Amino acid sequence: MSRLPTLSATEVTSDRLVLRKARDTDREGLIEIFTDPAVRAYLGGPMARSEMEKFLDAFGTANTTSEPGSFVIADNPTHGLIGILGLGRRSADRPGHLTEDGEELELSYVLRRSAWGAGLAFEAATVALRAAADELPDQPVLVVTQAANERALKLAARLGFHPVDTFEQFGAEQTLSTATLHTFKYEGPDELRA
Ligand SMILES: CC(C)(COP(=O)(O)OP(=O)(O)OC[C@H]1O[C@@H](n2cnc3c(N)ncnc32)[C@H](O)[C@@H]1OP(=O)(O)O)[C@@H](O)C(=O)NCCC(=O)NCCS
Repeated sequence: MSRLPTLSATEVTSDRLVLRKARDTDREGLIEIFTDPAVRAYLGGPMARSEMEKFLDAFGTANTTSEPGSFVIADNPTHGLIGILGLGRRSADRPGHLTEDGEELELSYVLRRSAWGAGLAFEAATVALRAAADELPDQPVLVVTQAANERALKLAARLGFHPVDTFEQFGAEQTLSTATLHTFKYEGPDELRA
């Protein structure tokens, strides 16, 4: 894990969502996400259910988001699991960087298949980046997606990320997109702040 900071909050809310830490009751939702061929199409393919169950038994469901910047995306107000969001640091030993030292902030997002097409990933990413912009100095943020992952690239573009490079990883072409963290700062009136 990088020693550079990311978002320190353990819960962030928006109109329709709560970004929160995982609970044992998220087990079935996480299994669905990691075993769904549609969700995993550009993420290395689906895991076998037994493999995912073994992982959760060993690691603990509630520990899956223990790292700072790692969240379950949940419905507001029911708190039911909709997806996962990460705002971590891209380690220097992986390809795809803007700087020689690496460790840039990196955003990733995954929704259950039933939650696609409602702007929920956009809302989750916006509120996480806004909270990070309030807390951290200005710096680049990365999104790395397979070049063939149209939905993920469309979302990155809608958020304001621009493609700057492509590279090979996991036997596929990856697109590196970037945005500047402080472009996500909330500039509106306090009473409208999410
Ligand atoms: C990538 C992923 C999170 C995108 O989900 P998504 O729902 O398409 O993304 P958004 O939240 O931006 O929603 C956009 C869609 O919601 C629609 N929408 C409906 N209501 C909306 C609202 N209030 N606000 C914004 N968009 C809204 C948009 O029109 C758009 O529809 P379209 O897909 O038909 O064009 C999802 O496809 C996924 O989980 N993929 C698998 C995981 C993955 O590959 N992740 C990438 C690794 S970084």
